[in-house]
Amino acid sequence: MKREIRVGLCGCGVIGEGLVTALLDHADVITARAGAPIRLTAVADKDSARLDIVRGRDASVALLDDAFEVVKREDVDIVVELIGGVEVADRLVRAALDAKKHVVTANKALLAERGAALFELAEKNGCDLYFEAAVAGAIPVIRVIRESLAADHIRSVRGIINGTSNYILSSMANDGAAFADALKAAQEAGFAEADPTLDITGGDAGHKLALIAGLAFGARVLPKEIPTEGIDRVDPRDILYARKFGYVIRPLAVAERLQADALDLRVHPALVPEADPLAHVDGALNAVAIQGEMVGPSFLSGLGAGAHPTATSVAGDIVDIAKNALAGAPVRTWHLPSEGKLKIQPIGDLSSRYYLRFSVRDESGVLAALSGKLGDSGISIELMVQDVEAGDEGTATIAILTHHAREGDVRASLSAIDETHLTTAPTHLIRIVE
Ligand SMILES: NC(=O)c1ccc[n+]([C@@H]2O[C@H](COP(=O)([O-])OP(=O)(O)OC[C@H]3O[C@@H](n4cnc5c(N)ncnc54)[C@H](OP(=O)(O)O)[C@@H]3O)[C@@H](O)[C@H]2O)c1
Repeated sequence: MKREIRVGLCGCGVIGEGLVTALLDHADVITARAGAPIRLTAVADKDSARLDIVRGRDASVALLDDAFEVVKREDVDIVVELIGGVEVADRLVRAALDAKKHVVTANKALLAERGAALFELAEKNGCDLYFEAAVAGAIPVIRVIRESLAADHIRSVRGIINGTSNYILSSMANDGAAFADALKAAQEAGFAEADPTLDITGGDAGHKLALIAGLAFGARVLPKEIPTEGIDRVDPRDILYARKFGYVIRPLAVAERLQADALDLRVHPALVPEADPLAHVDGALNAVAIQGEMVGPSFLSGLGAGAHPTATSVAGDIVDIAKNALAGAPVRTWHLPSEGKLKIQPIGDLSSRYYLRFSVRDESGVLAALSGKLGDSGISIELMVQDVEAGDEGTATIAILTHHAREGDVRASLSAIDETHLTTAPTHLIRIVE
């Protein structure tokens, strides 16, 4: 048997606890697959009670209250960063790499904001920096893009990569729940954070999409450069109208190569045709659809969060790094060589079909006036339904699906329409992705 590989864990919260369980309970299969024993030698968490998961199970594990103590230890070959956040995690990962230790992290915020410098440091110091759990939890999307599809040109990656948002939209669609109630249920079920802002505003998916764009296209993209909209403006009426038209609303992240030097990157709720596999990804599940030049379409689905699914990806990275270390071959490439600065298409230049929901006065001539104004801007209507609004006399809802149009033109037309007496509330737009 080869020498053992020693792991130090920083942060024993939700995922850290899952990792302890994986390393201790699945030691047999991990050892067999790594080709050497993988031993947990140190665990740190600010809260001593969180270390109870280790206490009494393995007395040889050092229990600490400061993550930086893990990095300093001689009996640690791989540092696992599961403390979350950006600033302290950045210092911690740097300290580990400076100490020539390999690193595994699940921290998408850290890598999306600081990844370029950290990967450079890892390479310089001959260390591996792995992050499978940072995108879509248990779904091996990093490994598939980086390794299985290494020979292909990737055309697009589309996915549901925020389970909380998908859970909320699914509850609204399946149970008729209002947004606030669906969010509360997600928090009670443990899917949403106490502060769910990053989930419901699309920020979390933006972090993950920045990483996907790096892997799939060699793009160096910061999350703030990605056009991002959350699901917080989706109204139960949108879900009902989408269904009438044969669509489901899903929280999507889209990365697509347009030309050699331009990408379409965006995060937003979208109408997806009922026949699309993404329409059937319900609840807290995640899914990623990859389109490659040679491979064609492929589809991955699974749990995108939660202790055990996410910890499985972290443990898989540990096994990979252990194998690299035992073979004396660390620093395998993490993304395509950077192609330089790729342009991100401004959202106003997007050509798409749109769902539009107008709140209008229930008067004759309104529909004709509305379609006339859209037509004047070159926007043609494909499908339309009109309903008198329940409980709101004198008001009607008109829901429309458009043919392809340039988003800037659609937005300009809607602004002009909303300034007239025709509408009684701002018009709502959701993109269609097919
Ligand atoms: N939860 C998921 O389903 C999921 C899925 C995919 C990826 N991730 C990522 O995985 C990482 C961990 O997430 P989590 O949900 O496990 O977070 P968590 O439950 O908040 O656990 C983090 C733990 O680290 C501790 N900690 C923070 N700073 C520390 C320090 N300097 N030294 C020692 N301990 C420290 C925290 O203590 P205090 O609470 O006292 O600060 C907490 O116990 C994050 O980057 C997250 O984005 C999570």
